[in-house]
Amino acid sequence: MKVLITGGAGFIGSHVLSLFVENYPQYNVFNLDALTYAGNLENLKKIESNPNYTFIKGDITDENFINTLFEHYKFDRVIHLAAESHVDRSIKTPLDFIKTNILGTTILLNAFKNTWEDDFQDKLFYHVSTDEVYGTLGPTGLFTETTPYDPNSPYSASKASSDHIVRSYGETYGMPYVITNCSNNYGQNQFPEKLIPLFINNIINKKALPVYGNGEYTRDWLYVKDHAKAIDLVFHKGKNKETYNIGGFNEWKNIDLIKELCKQMDVKLGRPQGDSEQLITFVEDRPGHDLRYAIDASKIKDELGWEPSVTFEEGLAITIHWYLNNETWLNNVTSGAYQSYYNKQYHKAT
Ligand code: NAD
Ligand code: TYD
Repeated sequence: MKVLITGGAGFIGSHVLSLFVENYPQYNVFNLDALTYAGNLENLKKIESNPNYTFIKGDITDENFINTLFEHYKFDRVIHLAAESHVDRSIKTPLDFIKTNILGTTILLNAFKNTWEDDFQDKLFYHVSTDEVYGTLGPTGLFTETTPYDPNSPYSASKASSDHIVRSYGETYGMPYVITNCSNNYGQNQFPEKLIPLFINNIINKKALPVYGNGEYTRDWLYVKDHAKAIDLVFHKGKNKETYNIGGFNEWKNIDLIKELCKQMDVKLGRPQGDSEQLITFVEDRPGHDLRYAIDASKIKDELGWEPSVTFEEGLAITIHWYLNNETWLNNVTSGAYQSYYNKQYHKAT
């Protein structure tokens, strides 16, 4: 079986890709990635010389390239993770998100359709999506698979749109697909623009911790390797045309999570308790900031037997340990272009 994983050099993609290359030597696993600022081949060092792994540098929005690639390799299954993924960037440059997340996904779907239209037997287009498509929750309630889509940021709207297009290819052309909508991930290899790795990096460097608004926003955090395991399970056992929500059963208000992170970092860095909390700086809120995300993951639990294997305490400790022991990785990704993004985004906090 030829499995194409898009975005395999990114955060979640690198964990999914490593899992497939290591656990399924009988599959030929291909990684298609444009290596944007978020893509980093260092994430794949451990598996890069495995005989069942091939890296292809390329852009999913390049239609001719994608069509030629699919004609040549005839991939049996696709796990599609490549995307622009950061809400703050989507507020500054929405068109990049529309292009990659909507157009890029449609170009992939079309190439896949043209390859197999006459016989989709055993084929699958697996679309990896986010809980942000559902919009925001109030103080109570959970997102289920039937919660109406109501996205609020250009990022979540572009993901919602791509989910709809995937579904339409299933209904219109009979293309087998699954979609998973997952909550916020954390763990090794995450680019330090998202909350947890950004704040770990800032604490290491004694830089301000820019908390948006009053910090009372809530997210449901899942350890990235548990997300990769869920994707493995849905890929092999998920039902055609189904959507599965994936979440950590693990809600945290930003400010509480940040204080917990500060505590653990002080211990790890041998700093006096309370030291890192002094870096907390409340800054202007994110426009259209969703108040609360929380996933009801009972469908994937009941139907496929998936549950997070790692508690938040364990996952956070592993994550902090990894960032502290991978300074070169951090320095490499935070140099260059990232600096100018950071200065623009946080000019008031630094
Ligand atoms: P990421 O930003 O870390 O990685 C994205 C990867 O896609 C990078 O390797 C990048 O080089 C590649 N890429 C971007 N544009 C491309 C293009 N035009 N052509 C080819 N490759 C391109 O993202 P992530 O956090 O790993 O998220 C992966 C997927 O999971 C995304 O689809 C995202 O919407 C979804 N998701 C993320 C989270 C989260 O918490 N990070 C939660 C739920 C769902
Ligand atoms: P983020 O990691 O960007 O994920 P998402 O917006 O996709 O949920 O942000 C997580 C939460 O942390 C969100 O409520 C915004 C907040 N946040 C800050 O308060 N400060 C920051 O610098 C960042 C990046 C996020």
